[in-house]
Amino acid sequence: MSDIARLRAFITDTAKIVETETSEAVILAQLAPKLEALIANDDWLPEAYAATFGARYRQYLLYADPLDRFSVVSFVWAPNEGTPIHDHGVWGLIGVLRGEEVSIGYERRADGSLQARAPERLGAGEIAVLSPESGDIHAIANGLADAASISIHVYGANIGRVRRSVFDPDTGTAHDFISGYSNDTVPNLWPDSAAS
Ligand code: FE2
Repeated sequence: MSDIARLRAFITDTAKIVETETSEAVILAQLAPKLEALIANDDWLPEAYAATFGARYRQYLLYADPLDRFSVVSFVWAPNEGTPIHDHGVWGLIGVLRGEEVSIGYERRADGSLQARAPERLGAGEIAVLSPESGDIHAIANGLADAASISIHVYGANIGRVRRSVFDPDTGTAHDFISGYSNDTVPNLWPDSAAS
C-alpha cells in the first residue's frame, strides 16, 4: 500500500472506531497505533497539503467526518514557527510525519494564570495525546530552525469549526477563537476514480 491509500485506510479505521466506541480513553487507545502506522511512511501526503506559506504555519483539512465525529489535519510549520497557547475541547492525537516539533503543556494555577510543564519534543514517527480530561492546553512549535516540519492531527470533532480558546501567556486570560483551515479543497482519496 502506498500513496493516498494509506490516508484512506486511516480514515476508514477511524470511522469504524468512532462508530463503535464512545469512551475517549478507548478511542485514543485504538487510534494511537493507527496513527503511528500512518506516519511510519512519508509517501502519501499530497504536496498541496505539505506546502509552507511564508513564515506562517498552515493547517490543511485532509478529511472531516460528515457527522463531525472526527477530522484529520496536516499542520505545516515553517522554521521556528509556533502556535499561541490554546485548547481544543475534544480529544486529539498528534503524529509527526516530517521534522520535529516541541509541545509545551500548561496547567491552571489557582489564580487562573498558566504554569508551563516541561517541553515535550517529538521526532518523526512519534505521537502525543491530547485529552480535555487530563488538560489539553498547550502550544506547539517547529523544533527545527532550518527546515519545515509536518504533523498529522486527528481530533474528536471538525476542529476547524470548534469555538475554543487561546490564552494570554502572562495572565491566562482566555479569548474565543475558531481556527478554520488554510485550504478550500481536500485530497481525492480515490485516485482510481480518475477518468481514463
Ligand atoms: Fe493544539
